[in-house]
Amino acid sequence: MTKLSLSRRGFLASGAALLTLPLLGGRVNAKPAALEILPSKTDLTGVGRMTDVLTYGGSVPGAVLRVKQGERLTIEAINRLSQETTIHWHGIRLPNAMDGVPGLSQPAIEPGGSFTYDFICPDAGTFWYHPHVNSAEQLARGLFGALIVEETQAPLFDRDELWVLNDWRLDEGAELANDFRDPFDQMHDGRIGNVVTLNGKAPATWQAKAGEIVRLRLLNASSARIFALAFDEKHPFFIIATDGQPCRPHQPAGGLLWLGPGQRVDLQLFTLGDASGRYSVVDHRNANHPAPLVEILYSNVPSTRMVTPAPIQLPPNPLTQPDLASAESLSLLLTGGMQHGSDMGSDMGGDMSGGEGHNMPGFWQINGQTHQGHDDPPLWNLALGKTYRITMKNKSDFFHPMHIHGMHWKLLSENGVAASDKVWRDTLLIAPKAEAEVALVADNPGTWMLHCHVLDHQETGMAALVQVA
Ligand code: C2O
Ligand code: CU
Repeated sequence: MTKLSLSRRGFLASGAALLTLPLLGGRVNAKPAALEILPSKTDLTGVGRMTDVLTYGGSVPGAVLRVKQGERLTIEAINRLSQETTIHWHGIRLPNAMDGVPGLSQPAIEPGGSFTYDFICPDAGTFWYHPHVNSAEQLARGLFGALIVEETQAPLFDRDELWVLNDWRLDEGAELANDFRDPFDQMHDGRIGNVVTLNGKAPATWQAKAGEIVRLRLLNASSARIFALAFDEKHPFFIIATDGQPCRPHQPAGGLLWLGPGQRVDLQLFTLGDASGRYSVVDHRNANHPAPLVEILYSNVPSTRMVTPAPIQLPPNPLTQPDLASAESLSLLLTGGMQHGSDMGSDMGGDMSGGEGHNMPGFWQINGQTHQGHDDPPLWNLALGKTYRITMKNKSDFFHPMHIHGMHWKLLSENGVAASDKVWRDTLLIAPKAEAEVALVADNPGTWMLHCHVLDHQETGMAALVQVA
């Protein structure tokens, strides 16, 4: 078996390990790289207090996987945990059998067992991987990592940086609070942590150099926390990709960069701060309590050039454009949770008989149904190759980052207003009482999950299956 080889250089000094992959090209039967899933300890807060975590390859975030677009990724996942797990490759348009959903696309990997994932990465961009078993707990304990698919021709940035954002609920002893599946969290915003980390470290700092054009890849790997980030005027940026897919470079409407659980954005960031300067990126998710997220620290080397903030357009990925003229309309109705003005959510609509795994309460519904397990009949049977226009309505009082496996959808409108940027997404964040319309080209055969990426919501009903045949 290939030994996992870890190297630490460049931005990886921030704590994330790099799994060095053999260059596999498009070859089959290459020897897989081994990725061990194992418990470890880490110092999240930098004060020498170790926290027990679960890891991919020994670190949090997990080993950064890098392949080139069109290359084959072959990874033998070895389960050294005392519980079952799988790996889901979030956002990769891969064959159904490699999707990592237990009981649906593969059997769960038993403790001591392994499973070899083997697929081609068709799109260049920022993707990630995480378990799809006991997700609310396994992710919150540290199982997440970035999968970066590089363009065949590297775009011209001075640096390529990755910020994996995550939060942790730590107790006084700096251990993870063992309060998973709290019905209060499940019925509200999900299990939000009390310590936010960037690449596994709090407080978060980032070393910058004056006068650079940086590709900054942001990934929100939190189980529930949403970020709404503001950069100061010395750090103008363009959004150049959403959930891995290139878009027209643009600034976010309203100025804040929203990032729900599961979402990624790639920024073209201009570092125009002064030598030895300090700046902060602030999270305005809670408008009354803006929270500094990262401190940007400049080296004492002054900039030697004038940077013109001209946007870089990334080359497009090979996505099938929707054919709206022939599209069929579908609707996705999101209900449930605690409702303002009612105590125990007594006026929740629909079925409350149990969520994923048959032993969870069903607090959430998609089209009136609480997800029971992976043997549910599909919510939709879609015709292979056809375009669907999906209207999503969030009737609840909470945000839902809605994620579809195996495909991406294209944003058409929000709250009845045509989207000025028709971005592709695999995870769309829908605000309370809001509405969005997306186009989905059903071009990947198989039965796929569609679920909320607030994992407490997913596990208590807000999930469904979509069959493409
Ligand atoms: Cu990132 Cu079904 O998940
Ligand atoms: Cu949700």
